[in-house]
Amino acid sequence: MKIPKVPFSPIRFSDGTLFLLDQRKLPSRELWLACRTSLSVWKAIRHMAVRGAPAIGIAAGYGFYLGVKDFNGGYRAFMKALDKQSRYLDSARPTARNLAYALERILNRVSGSGERDIKKLKNEVLEEAKKIHTDDIVLCRKIGEYGSALFGKGDTILTHCNAGGLATSGYGTALAVFYTLKEKKIPFSVFVDETRPLLQGARLTAWELTKSGIPATLICDNMAASLMRDGKIQGVVVGADRIAMNGDTANKIGTYGVAVLAKVHKIPFYIAAPSTTFDLKAKTGKDIPIEERPHAEVREIHGKQLAPKGMKVFNPSFDVTPHRYISGIITEAGVLKPPFSFSLKKIKEILSGK
Ligand code: MRU
Repeated sequence: MKIPKVPFSPIRFSDGTLFLLDQRKLPSRELWLACRTSLSVWKAIRHMAVRGAPAIGIAAGYGFYLGVKDFNGGYRAFMKALDKQSRYLDSARPTARNLAYALERILNRVSGSGERDIKKLKNEVLEEAKKIHTDDIVLCRKIGEYGSALFGKGDTILTHCNAGGLATSGYGTALAVFYTLKEKKIPFSVFVDETRPLLQGARLTAWELTKSGIPATLICDNMAASLMRDGKIQGVVVGADRIAMNGDTANKIGTYGVAVLAKVHKIPFYIAAPSTTFDLKAKTGKDIPIEERPHAEVREIHGKQLAPKGMKVFNPSFDVTPHRYISGIITEAGVLKPPFSFSLKKIKEILSGK
């Protein structure tokens, strides 16, 4: 299979080392983190050196290999070690479905291979991790194709958080739509929500769009409402961390507010996500676990204290947008429209291998 080009590769694996473009340091420094153990990959995920649902899944796949590559023992013990590693990596962050998706996919390949030779089985783990990585490039490209058809000349599109190349294998989901519009030479522009508390919009989406020459304007999260009222936004595209089978979608905290605003102002609100982000076991948004992150993320910015030291904080990292606010979900299988109970059948078929 020919792998399409990506604007950049934030994740690389070579010579037994996983290299991650450390997203905590962007945009001021482009530093690469070298991970040689599953512990270092777990930490990179937990502390968000790598972040964004598909990127977390890809990194975990390689982390899985790093966790078992030095295993010494027989087949049964190896299968136990795989199970242990899988549970361990899965504990790094709770909301992004792609994390468990990647681990389950590797486990299924190994246990279904019929192979008993440990060296060959280790190789299967690595092969599947690489495949998850390259597949994501293809999925994101398709999302870009379908999503770009939703917009036209002169549109201004709002995005929240970072669902770009950094959050995936290099092309993004929401940002795939923008990269494709640019490739098609359709003039458009973007408003970027800064996305407190960790500023993924201001730091990461702004970095990506600047790098690729896409016209973009950074706004504070509380500015979207008046821009919508003034007719300055024609559509919203955001990514997803986990999508329930009725279309309810978990994404970065603040997404729900943007969706409500879009509904009130009659602006289309789209989710862009690959099938790997859908959770067959989550019937509705109530089944999606929401991560609560350290309180210092709200009390401080970049280690600089804003609020009084003992100030009580609530810091949920994601919220769930109910499906009734979503105009469509842009996937590799097309733009799924409401009623989602019907259109999501396509995703069920992809995920169950039909
Ligand atoms: O906490 P983060 O930065 O990992 O949250 C990321 C998001 O919410 C993204 O929008 C989502 O993972 C989609 S990435 C294509």
